[in-house]
Amino acid sequence: MLAIRPIAEPDRLDVLVLPVRPAEQAADGDAPAVPVPTAVAPPDGTAEEAAALAPAARLTGRAGEVHTQLRAGRSPGRLLLIGIGDGGEAAWRAAGAALARSAVDETHITIALPADVTPAAVRGLTEGLLLASYRFRLTEAGDPPALSGADLLLADPAAHEATVATARTTAAMTRLARDLTNAPSSVKNPEWFADQVASAAADLPDLRLRVRGPAELAAEGFGGILAVGGGSASGPRLVELDWHPADARTHVVLIGKGITFDTGGISIKPVPAMKLMRKDMAGAAAVVAATLGAAALRLPVRITTLAPLAENMVSGSAFRPGDVIRHYGGTTSETTNSDAEGRLVLADALAYAVDQLAPDLLLDLATLTGANAVALGKRTAALYSENDQLAADVLAAVEAAGEAAWRMPLHTDYVEYLGSEVADLYSAPTQGAGSVVAALYLREFTGELRDRWLHLDMSAPSWADGDHAELSRGATGWGVRSLLRWLANVN
Ligand code: BES
Ligand code: MN
Ligand code: ZN
Repeated sequence: MLAIRPIAEPDRLDVLVLPVRPAEQAADGDAPAVPVPTAVAPPDGTAEEAAALAPAARLTGRAGEVHTQLRAGRSPGRLLLIGIGDGGEAAWRAAGAALARSAVDETHITIALPADVTPAAVRGLTEGLLLASYRFRLTEAGDPPALSGADLLLADPAAHEATVATARTTAAMTRLARDLTNAPSSVKNPEWFADQVASAAADLPDLRLRVRGPAELAAEGFGGILAVGGGSASGPRLVELDWHPADARTHVVLIGKGITFDTGGISIKPVPAMKLMRKDMAGAAAVVAATLGAAALRLPVRITTLAPLAENMVSGSAFRPGDVIRHYGGTTSETTNSDAEGRLVLADALAYAVDQLAPDLLLDLATLTGANAVALGKRTAALYSENDQLAADVLAAVEAAGEAAWRMPLHTDYVEYLGSEVADLYSAPTQGAGSVVAALYLREFTGELRDRWLHLDMSAPSWADGDHAELSRGATGWGVRSLLRWLANVN
């Protein structure tokens, strides 16, 4: 990962980055960008050069704009002008991301920050740089040289160390979630995922991990996880990770869907729909990474994280449409469609959390339905909760983190579609809106925590079809940034 250091004196000046912003009168025309006064004076007349270049290069100063000026035979050898828009966190995140992409052929850059730089700006810039420079590669071939160092030129670098450290942890955990989600399912079976959690947790003190295998799941009655995992040669697991700081007042349970590959099972998916189903554990990756991040940042909130892990395969031991499954705690589901598997494993985890952990708040993240993208497009998660305060708090954290979610209704008139003639519930009704009905099904397992539960259907934003701002093509790590913001304020 790119090393980011706040410093007061530049010690290498191969590439100097200077911020520009829109002119005050930009609203009524196309006034050229103006340079932003920096905390540390840039060397050798480069500030004057930037002022002359901004109109010549037709810069507007909007966030994400980058102009590269070659200075043959001089030092710095390249001057990069970056637009910082309104100078807020989101604008700096966009600027950092655009900078990481423009400077991909550099090894080291020095960024002169504005004299009036805020912690939010430093956080946005750091996260933008670290997230947009992410690449997932599985090859023995030597990677081309990549940007490895970014120095932030500041008047008082020590004052920004903590902000950079928080942003670094947030980005590192988002990158971990992306790595887990991008990993091919030939490698990523439930056991492998649990092993990855164990090795990541071993680097951090005071985390407790318990992994249940098939025998323990059977002994304790986790029928949903066992049914979904039953068709695979790689047995299911339930990861339970606990961060329990002494100063915690609130106990949060996070649950993430961990289907390491979703064929659809006997109700098999067609080719295009199955193509990306290695990402069907993005919810589990997000909650695990956020919990590791909370422990690394020593956030004063207790977090118990559950990741039910299973591979939904087609085989002689796979569960069938029409089977009746007995979940943890005894509620039964008539399965009807083996491709609605995520809710079956989540049901077990929710029931277990309510019964055994009795937290103050209960959140789940899941790549649950294709209908999420139908309703909200490719970048926005569907958020469900009966608790207005919890919904508002999480939406605010999502917004601040630079992710997107939209609150959706839990229609009462769809509840009847969950009725089964033979079991307590019907797991995959064909009536009603898909993402809403899935949320209503999950709600049946929240017991006394019904009004302290929040569900995020994040199928759509868990993946990016191409590079976009701080998202690199592939897994996005959606939810890690939002959860860490929310967890930092929950106590
Ligand atoms: N993992 C899928 C949902 C999904 C679809 C995630 C596309 C990401 C992108 C889930 O298990 C699934 O198959 N859901 C079904 C539910 C249906 C059978 C009720 C769906 O959305 O079609
Ligand atoms: Mn499915
Ligand atoms: Zn699935």
